[in-house]
Amino acid sequence: MGVFTSGGDAPGMNAAIRAVVRGGIFYKIEVVGILEGYTGLINGRDYLKKMNSRDVSGIINKGGTILKSARSEEFRTKEGREKAYNVVKDNNLDALIAIGGNGTFTGAHIFGTEYDVPVVGIPATIDNDLIGCDYTLGYDTATNTAVEAIDRIRDTASSHNRLFFVEVMGRDKGFIALRSSIATGAETIIVPEKNFEMDKLVQVLNYGKQNKKTSSIVIVAEGAASAVKVAEDLQEITDEFDVKVTILGHLQRGGSPTCFDRILASRYGVLAVEGMMKGERDAMVGLINRKARFTPFKTAINGEREIDEELLRIDSILAI
Ligand code: F6P
Repeated sequence: MGVFTSGGDAPGMNAAIRAVVRGGIFYKIEVVGILEGYTGLINGRDYLKKMNSRDVSGIINKGGTILKSARSEEFRTKEGREKAYNVVKDNNLDALIAIGGNGTFTGAHIFGTEYDVPVVGIPATIDNDLIGCDYTLGYDTATNTAVEAIDRIRDTASSHNRLFFVEVMGRDKGFIALRSSIATGAETIIVPEKNFEMDKLVQVLNYGKQNKKTSSIVIVAEGAASAVKVAEDLQEITDEFDVKVTILGHLQRGGSPTCFDRILASRYGVLAVEGMMKGERDAMVGLINRKARFTPFKTAINGEREIDEELLRIDSILAI
């Protein structure tokens, strides 16, 4: 069985690799680590490494991925996938476990259908934008990282009576933005799921000022707008605020996984191996209401995961 991580890295990927390797060994399956995701699957040879229990010692608490990751352009081509299939065949890989997000599972679905290779996925992306699991690996850690950073921004914002626009990650979704907003008491958020209206933003900010708020924080999901642009547009309308912008960027992707992500990764890893042994394929493991579920890749990647309206409501009530 081959295991690889692909796409944007996410805290908890190492814990998942460990669980897949040890879960596999427990069931007497030989596990091969594939370096750099689909790039390694295409190139084979030096990119493949037989894994034993000790190879995954001391990594449960480490961010990043010991198997490294990549976004492979070549795997999008038929020729690339053919090379990958030859590597799978030549190395007697009977099944693959893919740890990643949307792009990873899109590739896995095409590959598994074209070449009849069983692939099981483990959801790992800080964006939490997959259908078929309550939480993707890395989302909890990334949100906690954002919360810690925003708390620090609040300290300096309050000291100087400033307005900060803080841009968080989330390519298509506002999940990191919404949870970190509630947890830090941000004044408002801008997310891809809701239309942004500058008038309303100005209203919220003026309201805060009139009600003696000493600082304001607006969290902007990168998929909705550029925080820099929103700040510039605001400053063209009013000079009432001393405006600063912080882009949290890739610091949200690194760091030691939270206890939550470590346990989630451990469960996903073992469940993925067991699911594969029972014949699951072309599907992603997930936990929904604490119950294990396998969701076809097609559903996991194509479904529109909706933002929690209840949390949005709570967020706006508490920002007054
Ligand atoms: O999918 C995870 C993610 O971190 C997104 O939030 C972000 O838009 C994207 O990856 C950034 O990708 P890259 O690291 O390739 O720039």
